[in-house]
Amino acid sequence: MSERVLIFDTTLRDGEQSPGCSMSLAEKSRMAHTLRDLGVDVIEAGFAASSPEDRAAVAHIAHAVRGVRIATLARCVQEDVELAMAALEHAEAPRLHLFLASSDIHLEHKLRMSREEAVCTAAHHVRLARTLCDDVEFSAEDASRSEPAFLVRLFSEVIAAGATTINVPDTVGYADPASYGALFALLRREVPGADRVVWSTHCHDDLGLAVANTLAGLEHGARQVECTLNGIGERAGNAALEEVVMALRVHHRRYRLECGVNTRRLYPASRELAAITGSLVARNKAIVGDNAFAHEAGIHQHGMLRHRETYEIIDPEDVGVPGSTMVLGKHSGRAALRTRLAGLGYSPDDAALNRAFVAFKRLADTQREVDDKDLDRLMRHLQTAERVS
Ligand code: KIV
Ligand code: ZN
Repeated sequence: MSERVLIFDTTLRDGEQSPGCSMSLAEKSRMAHTLRDLGVDVIEAGFAASSPEDRAAVAHIAHAVRGVRIATLARCVQEDVELAMAALEHAEAPRLHLFLASSDIHLEHKLRMSREEAVCTAAHHVRLARTLCDDVEFSAEDASRSEPAFLVRLFSEVIAAGATTINVPDTVGYADPASYGALFALLRREVPGADRVVWSTHCHDDLGLAVANTLAGLEHGARQVECTLNGIGERAGNAALEEVVMALRVHHRRYRLECGVNTRRLYPASRELAAITGSLVARNKAIVGDNAFAHEAGIHQHGMLRHRETYEIIDPEDVGVPGSTMVLGKHSGRAALRTRLAGLGYSPDDAALNRAFVAFKRLADTQREVDDKDLDRLMRHLQTAERVS
């Protein structure tokens, strides 16, 4: 039996607030429709109190995008809560997402607040939020660097005040999988009312561990994942939605978790976001990068031509990539060359293939990739030379 995990997409909030990723209202609206069609459960459309533009974008998405829960972020400040609720007024299913820092370093240097004041402030605003909205999420910013005993107290109070989802952010990407997983185990064991709320992960990638930490949280009972397409987000980014979803799918026997994402839409959605923001996806990015299903090395190409699963753990079509690609370059072998030539209508015998292979290698030494036009030219040149001799 599988359990359901909720995908809370924050591409339009945590992602959009990172350098180089800002979007206009129209672009955010387009992406929100794409995210809805992708099958995420919650779209965090922005931080309503942060600017009139963000507020307008949240209000527009709340009104225009149906069939998905729409959230907006708010500080534990009355004006933020009111602005957030106003922006969510027309949402089919609104969620108010409140946050307050919980680590001593944030409390002392940023908020200049004692722990006691933080507990009172958080509980008060969650109570206020619940008078306006049935669905209230509370995030303890910098939770992974907070004292666990204090988190137990803080979360107990906000659950008593009515929070329905509790998010445990690794705000600065400090955690490692073992400690992040253990934190969820402790909180779910020790917080009174833990079984009445959904526990949520929110991981940043400063150590390249955001997805691993997310999976560790899920192993220890989290049932909501906060993530972004292409992993965009503050600094090194957030846990990449496409990576989490595919890890859960590839390792379904281990995690036994299902989500509502239509994986075939992952690649088109990733491309759309990259085109809108101009923030390019690294070639070697997992799942959606140009090289994710590309093979150049001769041994790999040979294996792939015999059986795709020799070198691929995911069928590219399952994530919306049209197919694997065999890149012909200086590392490629005869098998790939023969296959590509066949696709171009050439069927050289062994001797002709050897001559073509020598010419191909010479060309591949001078350029990164040999494409179909190059091959066609090369074959015609060899055929002319044979006729003349
Ligand atoms: O990283 C973080 O702590 C956040 C919260 C505001 C949820 O983005
Ligand atoms: Zn964040």
